Amino acid sequence: MQSPISYDSLIETLTFLSTDIEGSTAMLRRLGDVAFAPVLAEHHRIIRESIEAHGGREEGTLGDSFFATFTSPRAAVACGIDIQRTLDDFAWPGDEQLRVRMGIHTGEASEETTGLVGYQVHRAARIAAVGHGGQILLSSATAGLVEDSLSGDSTLRSLGSHRLKDLGRSETLFQLLAPGLQADFPPLRSLDNPELPNNLPASLGTFIGRVSELQEVLVLIRECRLVTLTGAGGSGKTRLALQAAAEFLDGSGDGVWLVELAPVSDPDRTADAIIEALQIRHEPGLAPVDNLLRVLRDQRSLIILDNCEHLIDSVAKLVELLTRTCPKVHLIVTSREPLGVDGEDVYRVRSLSLPAGNVEAVTDVAGSDSVELFVTRTRQHDKSFELSDSNVSLVASICRRLDGIPLAIELAAARLSSMSVEDLHERLDQRFSLLSGGSRNALPRQQTLGAMVAWSYDLLNEFEREVFRRLTVFVNGFDLRAAEAVCTNESIESYELDDIIGSLVAKSLVVAERGDTFLRYRLLDTIRQFAADRLLEVEGEFGMGEARQGHAEYFLGLCEAAEPFLEGGSDQAQWLNRLEQEWDNL
Ligand SMILES: Nc1ncnc2c1ncn2[C@@H]1O[C@H](COP(=O)(O)OP(=O)(O)O)[C@@H](O)[C@H]1O
Ligand SMILES: [Mg+2]
Repeated sequence: MQSPISYDSLIETLTFLSTDIEGSTAMLRRLGDVAFAPVLAEHHRIIRESIEAHGGREEGTLGDSFFATFTSPRAAVACGIDIQRTLDDFAWPGDEQLRVRMGIHTGEASEETTGLVGYQVHRAARIAAVGHGGQILLSSATAGLVEDSLSGDSTLRSLGSHRLKDLGRSETLFQLLAPGLQADFPPLRSLDNPELPNNLPASLGTFIGRVSELQEVLVLIRECRLVTLTGAGGSGKTRLALQAAAEFLDGSGDGVWLVELAPVSDPDRTADAIIEALQIRHEPGLAPVDNLLRVLRDQRSLIILDNCEHLIDSVAKLVELLTRTCPKVHLIVTSREPLGVDGEDVYRVRSLSLPAGNVEAVTDVAGSDSVELFVTRTRQHDKSFELSDSNVSLVASICRRLDGIPLAIELAAARLSSMSVEDLHERLDQRFSLLSGGSRNALPRQQTLGAMVAWSYDLLNEFEREVFRRLTVFVNGFDLRAAEAVCTNESIESYELDDIIGSLVAKSLVVAERGDTFLRYRLLDTIRQFAADRLLEVEGEFGMGEARQGHAEYFLGLCEAAEPFLEGGSDQAQWLNRLEQEWDNL
């Protein structure tokens, strides 16, 4: 039996106001330390007075950013307007005009000994970050709460949906218009802005914790141009690399590019994969490597080479060439092993921080990233889940048992849609004790993740298992139609496949990627390899061959269907896009 849900009194809905001075580093350089200090002090005074006047609470400052909370969203909005007007009217020294960007968002947060925590808390700062000095941006949550009660002369302008740098879900943003406030601004500095060229994935799960790791990686990228993130599968290398890359993107260079190497099996195609990801034009007569070096020679860009372990030698050679020939290109490599080339800085990705051994109350797990990931992911499957004093020690013990490995935690959290925390804890305990020969000591990391993936697989029903195993043939994602060609047979009809894949997504064994116009699925690398092993084990070479044949026939059919349209005509672009998306599968 699931224990009754306790809505901890510590959790409340608040409106967050985040402010940040635009171009403060440049201003500091222009004015110098001595002249800048009083400017900053005035800025602090104006903001503090306004927060207080509107009944808000200052939660913290970091450099030139402020963070405040309000119980009333209207008060937060009024405070924002007030600050902008006062800053605008103030006589700043010289010709300077201090301009502040603001983000306002409403959501749940919990108060802990270390301050406010929760995903929503950071969201306001993420929103502020895409705005311009003088601009006030509202999330759709806040906009919905205030739109009918704005004072007569204020209105909201919808700026559409935007991808923020946390790479979480897109957010529809609104600009607050009020007399005395500038109304027109350049496009928002979100990931959709063409001035921030990138191919970072659209909507990943929220990035949790790792504050110091992120800073460390950012410093390394700036200082040494080649950083290799190493660690076991599922430890969070890719997610950390993507987050660092998003933070690096400031519009001042030639962009940030993700090159997925997992689907590339031929070492001679490494350069081609980079060329494709960076959308570099093919030069007839020029070898791909030379073409790449020619284009990147003068560029300032950051390139992530993700999943290099199976191509170590070829990536090492190419990376040496790139670092030698292209002085402004920075590289992040993710790989289980270092490349072993000159100038490489190896950064080992640690597990997410674990809670202490003795946990009795929610406050005891403050600052534990593994618990935060567990709770966030559980709530994606079950909105009503809350961490409470009655379940926190079990949750903490599960996270410790899983050694803070993000992928293992995600798989465990996905089980809570069909079992209670007590059951999950007990069954994991049994399983792991068995594996470690009865010892309560932790298993080696790789084995811990393997055990978690195997357990998730064992809990599937027979049809889900069969589909899951066969999905291994897709090296870089698939849609429902492609899955149908590979997974349907006498026992699984195509109309059932939709539900089966939905169920695999709910169990975190398959990742769904939803765009404006498409829905695609993908298996994380570690999980895809596990599926391949199971396919061979259960169905042997014959089963693997059959799945591959279904795959080959489907894509052959796709190419044949595309052929008449590739020469030109109104549908050409659409077909080319479709083939490009499937390139790695072809
Ligand atoms: N800091 C984090 N916050 C949220 N999710 C994370 C974090 N780190 C890893 N994950 C999730 O855990 C899973 C495994 O991470 P991933 O980066 O793919 O590992 P690796 O590249 O080391 O195999 C992914 O689903 C990823 O989104
Ligand atoms: Mg990875």
